Amino acid sequence: MSDAQRRAYEDGMAHCGVAYNSAKLDFEKTFARKAPVILEIGFGMGKTTADIAEAHPEMNYLGVEVHTPGVGSLLKEIQLRNLSNIRIIQHDAVEVLTHMIPDNSLAGIHVYFPDPWPKKRHHKRRLLQPVLVELLAQKLATGGYLHCATDWEEYAMQMLEVLSGEALLENTVDDFAPRPDWRPVTKFEQRGLKLGHGVWDLLFEKR
Ligand SMILES: C[S@@+](CC[C@H](N)C(=O)[O-])C[C@H]1O[C@@H](n2cnc3c(N)ncnc32)[C@H](O)[C@@H]1O
Repeated sequence: MSDAQRRAYEDGMAHCGVAYNSAKLDFEKTFARKAPVILEIGFGMGKTTADIAEAHPEMNYLGVEVHTPGVGSLLKEIQLRNLSNIRIIQHDAVEVLTHMIPDNSLAGIHVYFPDPWPKKRHHKRRLLQPVLVELLAQKLATGGYLHCATDWEEYAMQMLEVLSGEALLENTVDDFAPRPDWRPVTKFEQRGLKLGHGVWDLLFEKR
């Protein structure tokens, strides 16, 4: 990072960053208001996150991402658009979910184009495995939604199997959902579309 980028990052994080900590978050304090909270795992460069948050000022958005340039990019979007309903935790999402997110607390979870790990020997690194999906379901409030999307067909099939196998979740449609109007095409998705990939959305609700 250049000095200017580092200053912008530090200023931005001072306003919107939430430090990783092993205590459960009090969302009302974190966002300085009471509103439903949507968690996003792996927001990448964050343009989609900012688009969704800007279109829904009545909701609070908590983005979790490990990649510093992505965090810097979302901070820039927040500043340019003057958004007050986004907070960022720069840390591993599994640890954040385990330690910081209260059970039955989230109105929704977004997981858009998680790393596909296409090689068979790397499949175990994929984020959406039964244990994590059970944890996600635990963190949703009743009626809350889990929205995932991928451009990797075989991972889409795995997601469908794992989400359908989680007792706390119910599919809102048969198999895959059409992309909801409120989900803009993400940066990673655009790349996949240019390569001729398909896109699969999954939209489940907590029973
Ligand atoms: C393929 S990119 C997709 C980014 C964005 N959602 C999009 O559609 O353009 C996946 C992102 O997930 C992030 N990521 C992967 N594992 C993570 C984890 N355990 N915790 C937080 N972020 C993670 C990566 O840093 C990367 O930015």
